Amino acid sequence: MRMIEVILFGYFLTCVCGDGVADVVLSCTLVEEGVGMGGMGGGAHFTRTPATLILRDVPVAPDESLETLTPFVPPSIPDPDAILLEAKVSSPEIPDAQVLLHADCNEQEVMCELSSYSPHGTQEREQTYFLVSLNVEGGEFSTTLILQTLVVERDQSTLIQSKLGLPLSHSGTLPTEVIFLVFSHIKSVNAPLRGDVLLYCGFRQQETPLAQEVGVEWRLQHRGKGWKVFVMKTRLDGAEGSTVVLAERKGSSVNASLVVAEGDASVTLTRLKAVDEGTYICTVSVGPFNAQQVIQLQITQPPQVSLSEENFVLKTNPPQTLSCHCTKYYPLDAQIECHRQHGDGSYSLSSHLTVPSSVSPGTRLTCRVSHQALDAPLSLSVVVKNPEPGSYWWVLGFLFVTILFFYQVMK
Ligand SMILES: *[C@@H]1O[C@H](CO)[C@@H](O)[C@H](O)[C@H]1NC(C)=O
Repeated sequence: MRMIEVILFGYFLTCVCGDGVADVVLSCTLVEEGVGMGGMGGGAHFTRTPATLILRDVPVAPDESLETLTPFVPPSIPDPDAILLEAKVSSPEIPDAQVLLHADCNEQEVMCELSSYSPHGTQEREQTYFLVSLNVEGGEFSTTLILQTLVVERDQSTLIQSKLGLPLSHSGTLPTEVIFLVFSHIKSVNAPLRGDVLLYCGFRQQETPLAQEVGVEWRLQHRGKGWKVFVMKTRLDGAEGSTVVLAERKGSSVNASLVVAEGDASVTLTRLKAVDEGTYICTVSVGPFNAQQVIQLQITQPPQVSLSEENFVLKTNPPQTLSCHCTKYYPLDAQIECHRQHGDGSYSLSSHLTVPSSVSPGTRLTCRVSHQALDAPLSLSVVVKNPEPGSYWWVLGFLFVTILFFYQVMK
C-alpha cells in the first residue's frame, strides 16, 4: 500500500564529535492523538507539531570523508516552545544508522515521527517514553525506537517544555536514551508461488536487559482481514524448555536461538500460496515494551506459455484457430479475458487467433506475453506452412496475439 501522506522531508545537520562518531539531526513530527473537537464525525484526530531529533554518537566508518558535514549548533537561547529530543545511540546501536548520514547526499527522504509511549502494566514510572519511527525512502532502513527520558538536575533556571511539561537541559533539549528498538532492512519482498521466503525483523535493547521474557508475533493483514502467522515466547537466559510456540501457519518458523543470541526474530515461510501475500507486522515485546516493523510480501509467478499447434499447416476450410495458453501465473493484473484460478491461487488464461484462410505461407504467428513477473515480454511463434510440400513462396508477414498484463501500464 502506498503512504497516503508524506509526513515530512528530512533535513540534516551533522557534526563530528570525536573519534568515529557524528550527530544526526532530523526534522520530525510529534503526533498526538486527541479527542474529536468540533470535527466532523467526532472520531479521534491527530495533531502534528514540528519537532527535532538529535541522534548523538552515530558511528561513522573510519574511511568516511567528514569534510562535508556542517556542525550542529544548539540554540544560544533555549526555547521552551521548541521540541528538541536528544538521544544517545551508542548502546544499543541503531543498526545501519550511517544510512541516515548519507540519506541527504543520496537525496533520500527520511520520515521521522514521534509519539508518546506508555509501557504495558500499571506500574507508576518516573520517566516519560517516546516512540520514534524512522524510515528512509527506498526502504532499506527502517527502525522503531523507544526513548526513555533521562533525569534532568533542576535549578531555578530550568525551563519546562511548554507542550510536554518536561524539564529541559541547559542547552534546551530533552535528554533521552534509546532503551529498545526493532528494525528491518527491507520494506517489501517478492517471492514466487510454492517458494520459500525469509522476512527479516531484528531487535536490540540496552545492556541491562529490560526483562528476560521475549515475545515475537508475526501477523498478516490482507484486504481488511488479519491473522496470526507465528506467535512465540522465549527467555533470554535460554532456560530449558522456555520456548513456547502459541500459534503458527503451517510451514512457518522463527529460530528461537537466533532470537536469544542475535536479536533476530525473522520468520521463514515455506511453500508459499497466493493467500500468503499481504502486509506482515513483526511485533517484538520485551517486558512492558514492544515495537513493530511492517514488511510487504508480494507473490509473483511468471506465466508458462504454450501454443496449441507446433506446426501450423494451412487448410482452406474452415478457418483455423491458433490458441495461446498462459498458465500458473500470479498476480492477475489483466483485463477483460477469462481466467481460471487454481488451488494454489495461480491463474490461467487462453487467447485465440482465428487465422484467415487467405494468410500467406511463411507468415509468422506470434503470441507475445507481458507480465510483471517477467523482465521482458515472452514470445512464442509458429510459421504458417503450405499444405503442398515443396511449393514454398515465402511472403514475409506477421500476425500477433498479444496478451498484455496491465500491471506495467496501470502502475
Ligand atoms: C537456528 O540458528 C542456529 C544458529 O545459526 C543454527 O545453528 C540452528 O541450526 C538453527 N536452527 C534451526 C532449527 O534452523
